[in-house]
Amino acid sequence: KLMKVFLTRRIPPEGMKILSAAGVCEVSQWDSDEPVQRADLLKGVQGAHGLLCLLSDKIDAEVLDAAGPNLKVISTLSVGYDHLAIDEIKKRGIRVGYTPDVLTDATAELTVALLLATARRLPEGVEEVKNGGWSSWKPLWLCGYGLSGSTVGVIGLGRIGMAIARRVMPFGVKRLLYSGRTAKDYAAEVNGEYVPLDTLVSESDFIVVSCSLTPETQGMCDKAFFSKMKNTGVFVNSSRGTVVNQEDLYEALSSGQIASAGLDVTTPEPLPTNHPLLTLKNCVVLPHIGSATYSTRGIMGALSAQNLLGGLQGTDMPSELTF
Ligand code: GLV
Ligand code: GLV
Repeated sequence: KLMKVFLTRRIPPEGMKILSAAGVCEVSQWDSDEPVQRADLLKGVQGAHGLLCLLSDKIDAEVLDAAGPNLKVISTLSVGYDHLAIDEIKKRGIRVGYTPDVLTDATAELTVALLLATARRLPEGVEEVKNGGWSSWKPLWLCGYGLSGSTVGVIGLGRIGMAIARRVMPFGVKRLLYSGRTAKDYAAEVNGEYVPLDTLVSESDFIVVSCSLTPETQGMCDKAFFSKMKNTGVFVNSSRGTVVNQEDLYEALSSGQIASAGLDVTTPEPLPTNHPLLTLKNCVVLPHIGSATYSTRGIMGALSAQNLLGGLQGTDMPSELTF
């Protein structure tokens, strides 16, 4: 008898192919590019043996209860898993698959692109070309900040943080600081200096947030944080929006406390188009596209399908979250 799986969204075809070729499950799916409504999610998971979800789906006790005792595996098409109620999942003996590693390069590239776009004011420049604001080559116009000779601080030197560090060093970065729970041996490759968060914040010209969202990091970038930054400091976040207190960031950007911010993640997502941050020229906001290359999303689709199958069949998953 085929096992039931529920997919909360359309996923890359690479993943669908693997699921149908395996012939072990009957797939039902929220067949849309838009998020599943809560009520449809609660209905869709009923009796499911496997659930394939996205970072925009909150998987908590209510969803697990709605699924019922068949549920063996949750496979998320993401490296982050802050949307999963891990304690509840663990209590029920459900396995979890996720997609680390395969999106590291794409996410690091996007983060560096966002850093440079923010520091060198690319969106403003593009806008000026279009609106006629480009009247001449002007010595003092649209100046920003460069990486050469700078100090970069990476908050969270994990897989993605390290990939970002590797990519910025060739720009001539002078010092690479990092903070986090522990010092990392592999930081030597980028001459990374493990420092307390306060030191990183006050000494960095560029701050890149690349940590996971946990109770410790939630709201970490707040008024006190921004007040310690240099006035010329550039702040970039490609982890999770709620690591940042956005009201405090708005204040820091509009008062000139810091130079600029680039965000690939916000609270909420999508950010409402009338949000105050979007009125600021020195804030560049992207729609959470860190891993969005064709090839990376295809590989994520495939990996999440393989994880799902492993969980259904009680075999190894290529990327199982251990907790
Ligand atoms: C993206 O933010 C992910 O967690 O994969
Ligand atoms: C810039 O285009 C320069 O020639 O300095």
